[in-house]
Amino acid sequence: MQRIRITGGNKLIGNMPVSGAKNAALPLLAAALLTDEPQTFTNVPNLADIRTLRALLEGHGAQVDYDPASEAKAMQIHTPVVTNHTAHYDLVRTMRASILVLGPLLAREGHAKVSLPGGCAIGSRPVDLHLSVMEALGAEIELEEGYVVAKAPAGGLQGATYIFRTVSVGATENALMAASLARGTTVLKNAAREPEVVDLAECLVKMGAKIDGIGSDTMTIEGVDRLNGCEHQVVADRIEAGTFAMAAGITNGDVFLKNARLEHLEAAASALALAGVELTAEEGGVRANRPSGRLVGTDITTEPYPGFPTDLQAQFMGLMCVAEGASVINEHIFENRFMHVPELLRMGADIRVEGRSAFVKGVEQLKGAPVMATDLRASVTMVLAGLVAEGDTTVHRIYHLDRGYEQLEDKFKGVGALISREDDPTNGNGN
Ligand code: UD1
Repeated sequence: MQRIRITGGNKLIGNMPVSGAKNAALPLLAAALLTDEPQTFTNVPNLADIRTLRALLEGHGAQVDYDPASEAKAMQIHTPVVTNHTAHYDLVRTMRASILVLGPLLAREGHAKVSLPGGCAIGSRPVDLHLSVMEALGAEIELEEGYVVAKAPAGGLQGATYIFRTVSVGATENALMAASLARGTTVLKNAAREPEVVDLAECLVKMGAKIDGIGSDTMTIEGVDRLNGCEHQVVADRIEAGTFAMAAGITNGDVFLKNARLEHLEAAASALALAGVELTAEEGGVRANRPSGRLVGTDITTEPYPGFPTDLQAQFMGLMCVAEGASVINEHIFENRFMHVPELLRMGADIRVEGRSAFVKGVEQLKGAPVMATDLRASVTMVLAGLVAEGDTTVHRIYHLDRGYEQLEDKFKGVGALISREDDPTNGNGN
């Protein structure tokens, strides 16, 4: 096992490249299963979650070619024949997004068996919406020994109108993929509008799908008989960009986020502006800087896009720990997404959690400590806190970080952070 050591105190100054979005790449890769033609994606980040999905696709008969060292970061996926319809527990349990193969397999092949997923331990995170939208499209679903066993009716999935009871990114993506190959018209209401959903829909259109209302909460899909291959570039990762912007803010720095798109970060940018961090669109990216003075306590509430993203909640809390005054952080998307709080407390933060709200009182200075990463975004928050803390912080169990951040230390080192990866003699326990 490895850990990351950060010595706090340096301002971050310079350029940080933003990678392709993991959360866009995962559904895009799954969409490649919808066609028997070769599909090419560029800007695919080299991450553990991407390797998991690749292995899953290969298990279904996909031939995958990926050169992460190349500038284009291109991945070719070709599944002339689906050779196996089961997504096994061993792989699915490591990543919740594995459920995204359900829609494509069901639509193309008429049947699929997918293990119930695992993933980050944030709340109960059920998959009922994924299943109920497939049922609305005519699928018969049974749960057998931890597996979802799904069968389309004879003649294939049938278009339908479906209203999501709650906004779900993954279920919207699964539904879009399945409906693209269903017979007739599907209308998805209260659909997710995240940029990653838009990226998938735009790729599906290139593949020959007929989708109206992309970017809105109602999408109409006219099913087609078959989809073709295409080339598609994965959108820049708004969560990585937001994380780096907050790293610039917490260190009083000035960083250019290459490839970032400000229009995908509006809610975070507004909250950051109130807190004293400026985000400005510049050619080829976004500049994040904190002009002067201490950060200011600012309240946020997480919401589906275009609201403040839950995937930036932990990082924002990191900032608020050293801001002047108090702030309230409301988590409205997931239960139990405050696992970073006990770790921040170990570094001297003042936070009280009541249900889905965290009350943060800013302190003058955090202190370095051994801390434990408990999920992806919680882990990177500990890195942010370490950047501004007095002394050394060691972040243990960094496999979570490797699921979602590409070359994290290199990117931080490039802007002046004192950060390194080392073997962890404590085997992740931090003592
Ligand atoms: C995606 C992102 C994740 C992000 C989340 C919310 C990927 C790979 N992951 O996750 O990083 O934090 O969106 O922006 O894109 N829900 C149900 N039943 C379901 C599905 C979801 O009740 O079948 C609930 C969830 O428990 C949660 C809410 O809906 O409370 C939103 O979850 P959802 O948007 O589905 O998240 P994911 O797609 O899993």
